[in-house]
Amino acid sequence: MISGTGVTKTYRQRGAMLGARDVQALRGIDFTVPRGGAVSFIGESGCGKTTLGRIVAGLETYDSGDIVIDGTSMAPLHPRRRRRHFRRVQLVHQDPYSALNPTRTVHQTLLAPLALRARHTGRSRAWAAGRAEELLALVGIDPGYVLGRYPHQLSGGMRQRVVIARALTVDPEMLVADESVSMIDVSMRLSVLSLLKDLRERLGVSVLFITHDIATARYIGGGSELYVLYRGQVVERGPTEDVIAGPVHPYTQSLLSAIPVLHGMEVPGPERVVPTEALDAAVEDTGCLFAARCPFRTELCTAERPELTGDAHRHACVHPHRRAVIPREAA
Ligand SMILES: Nc1ncnc2c1ncn2[C@@H]1O[C@H](COP(=O)(O)OP(=O)(O)OP(=O)(O)O)[C@@H](O)[C@H]1O
Ligand SMILES: [Mg+2]
Repeated sequence: MISGTGVTKTYRQRGAMLGARDVQALRGIDFTVPRGGAVSFIGESGCGKTTLGRIVAGLETYDSGDIVIDGTSMAPLHPRRRRRHFRRVQLVHQDPYSALNPTRTVHQTLLAPLALRARHTGRSRAWAAGRAEELLALVGIDPGYVLGRYPHQLSGGMRQRVVIARALTVDPEMLVADESVSMIDVSMRLSVLSLLKDLRERLGVSVLFITHDIATARYIGGGSELYVLYRGQVVERGPTEDVIAGPVHPYTQSLLSAIPVLHGMEVPGPERVVPTEALDAAVEDTGCLFAARCPFRTELCTAERPELTGDAHRHACVHPHRRAVIPREAA
């Protein structure tokens, strides 16, 4: 199991004209990913998703809070001693065009980490070579075809699978997939998602899925939990289907309301929510971070910042109200 408590991260940004400004990328995030489980983080650009993914994979430091990996707390460990634990969490780069070294064949890409692993565990080079083939088969590509090839000789979808095979060389407990906005190829996105779902079922590897698109968060598979991140705070979290069917926080409702009616066979959700104004990251008050944009705002909202409350389905809103906002298929 991998969990985080109170994870915070502040960046100091230096503008050419405005001087230095602090950006609170994460404001005390709690999360739990059970073994073999799946958790999705969604939220608009700049809400802190990539920062969280990089922290959980050990690629970025955090200011306070703790990450616990398989029962071991990272906070008290010297950064060098954390590395071994963070290796249990592998970040899957979602841009297969830059994630692979263009001068190495697939064989070389996979063999380097496997040979290291073989050395550490007293296994042979033959084991490493065999394992490379096994991993490629596991991610659904023919080892005979790809092993001797360079990345530019492969399709985008195959490269993406090689990236995932490389992440699996260390037998990770969790994969972190950060779906960047630049990944526009929908069929590739879906094939990566179904592969991650499959690996969850077959290997018991857990998945932390990061996306700006609530619709794709549903593909990650049964029993998953959805976290809605807004300006570095989790404003709603719960079983994915439950949050989508009955979002309680107006921010989640506005995010879901933005799902278009695609086929003409659906009817728009009757209670769609549209923010009253655009996000202004400079507006910071003591209350709810969404208050300035919220159509349901009252004085209560700006009095103090709401904390996440509830059991399975939690929200940070002083006026929680389930609304039907997503398009539904017409009967
Ligand atoms: N290295 C950095 N230096 C300064 N500020 C940063 C840095 N990385 C991120 N930030 C800021 O922290 C905030 C969160 O950024 P982050 O990349 O985590 O957002 P995101 O949710 O992944 O957005 P996107 O959907 O666009 O990928 C943003 O305001 C961003 O400008
Ligand atoms: Mg990002």
